[in-house]
Amino acid sequence: MSSVSVKRMLPSRLLYFLIAFSVSLLMLSSLSLLELCDDSSIGKSVLQYIVVNNASTYSKPNVRTSLTETLVIKDSASQEVANQVSNPMNNVEELEKYERKLCDKDRARLKVYMYDLPTEFQFGLLGWKGDKNQIWPNVSSENSVPSYSGGLNLQHSTEYWLTLDLLASVTEDVTRPCGAIRVQNSSESEVIFVPFFSSLSYNRHSKNHGKQMVSVDGLLQEQLVEFLEGRKEWKQSSGRDHLIVAHHPNSMLVARKKLGSAMFVLSDFGRYPVEIANLDKDIIAPYKHMVRTVPSVDSATFSERPTLVYFQGAIYRKDGGVIRQELYHLLKDEKDVHFQFGSSQANGIKQASKGMASSKFCLNIAGDTPSSNRLFDAIASHCVPVIISDEIELPFEDILDYSEFCIFARAVDAVKKGYLLSLLRGLTREKWTKMWERLKEVSSHFEYQYPSRPCDAVDMIWQSVYRKKSFTQLNVHRKNKYRLKEILFLDIFSFFIFNILTF
Ligand SMILES: *[C@@H]1O[C@H](CO)[C@@H](O)[C@H](O)[C@H]1NC(C)=O
Ligand SMILES: *[C@@H]1O[C@H](CO)[C@@H](O)[C@H](O)[C@H]1NC(C)=O
Ligand SMILES: *[C@@H]1O[C@H](CO)[C@@H](O)[C@H](O)[C@H]1NC(C)=O
Repeated sequence: MSSVSVKRMLPSRLLYFLIAFSVSLLMLSSLSLLELCDDSSIGKSVLQYIVVNNASTYSKPNVRTSLTETLVIKDSASQEVANQVSNPMNNVEELEKYERKLCDKDRARLKVYMYDLPTEFQFGLLGWKGDKNQIWPNVSSENSVPSYSGGLNLQHSTEYWLTLDLLASVTEDVTRPCGAIRVQNSSESEVIFVPFFSSLSYNRHSKNHGKQMVSVDGLLQEQLVEFLEGRKEWKQSSGRDHLIVAHHPNSMLVARKKLGSAMFVLSDFGRYPVEIANLDKDIIAPYKHMVRTVPSVDSATFSERPTLVYFQGAIYRKDGGVIRQELYHLLKDEKDVHFQFGSSQANGIKQASKGMASSKFCLNIAGDTPSSNRLFDAIASHCVPVIISDEIELPFEDILDYSEFCIFARAVDAVKKGYLLSLLRGLTREKWTKMWERLKEVSSHFEYQYPSRPCDAVDMIWQSVYRKKSFTQLNVHRKNKYRLKEILFLDIFSFFIFNILTF
């Protein structure tokens, strides 16, 4: 009797054990994902490389789990290289060259197919003209990259940086992280990128001219929908593996309903119905900040920032604006508070750079949309953001814990008399300094630049796409739950048998 029950119990115990084991593995792997970018304050730690056995061999890392490789030193022969590596100033360039050479289809985390859309959908919107039959600019040197001239439009330039990075991924001599790589055959790709500069198109061409019934922006969107719906790539997946950038809240107004199955890159969900855009499939990308980036070494400390609270922005008459008005009346008479209305034009940006860099806290109050570039201005200035926006979605929140470097206040609380000031004045120098230190670390994740650098905004977006894709696949798999259970059981069973046989 008893031996039977023992036998029966054994597999179920093993099952529990195995499940516990795989759960802890899963947790470990997600931890390593967290570490991936967390302390990669670029310029300081730079890249770390795996060095195994042979000093002159950089072994190929596990591409699925690490972008920034870990330094593993196995024998004393490698010590010399280790010393060199730990002295980044000398070797950064050399190592990066190596990194560049190593980036290929097998190593990149994400294989991306990009449509050759006509220039009027992309760099043509910036006034770029190639030679006859030239679809893309030559991005091999920074001088030949079409520049983005557009003042405040630059806030929504995500589309431009992502497209440049894909072009760079197949251009010789451009050093960039090996996150995404452009492939020429869509059947090898995991993601299909739609290089339409939708925000620029909205900013430049959304007005109807003269007798035109539809704006140029509307026309481009209609053409895009027609183009996509005719492609075999779109039909195959109903667009689900397509990546469309629509960072300006008003971009893609015409097309968004028809292309809602695709993965969007957005600034927030404020103007989208939930069935078209949601966190399950879409990605929140940072605005490009307008103020000057404060280098970490120049960043003013607690006592070097005379202004307690800084806010500069427009007054809105809609919902969000009410909060701004009320806060204005609460704060305007405080002597260490800068609270002004007015949009930041060219000179305004210079002043905002100065103002934020010499303030301890920067307010980020909901306007007519839940998000704004003010948050990213604050981060670039290492001015601790105070977020008063109930609906806000934050970029890369699955990796970054914003509570480490931002203060959150609900709108209902913030407008209570005395609430905000006592909250902020109550924060000790130590607490503030901790947040400031963290800001200096994370600010590089919000930098758009060409060429892209490890864990900057572009690299982080590709990583998000990769994770989101895995998540989407997880959801598909979860739908086959019962099937999945059977497979799991079979796996465990065969594992069990195998172990018995080998013992
Ligand atoms: C290390 O690798 C290099 C080339 O990658 C080779 O020439 C050299 O002989 C190797 N050294 C040892 C000790 O294996
Ligand atoms: C791009 O420009 C570089 C020089 O800036 C040149 O060497 C290279 O051949 C060009 N590539 C193409 C495809 O024209
Ligand atoms: C793309 O890849 C598929 C599958 O590997 C292959 O059948 C097809 O011929 C390729 N297409 C081109 C244009 O190379």
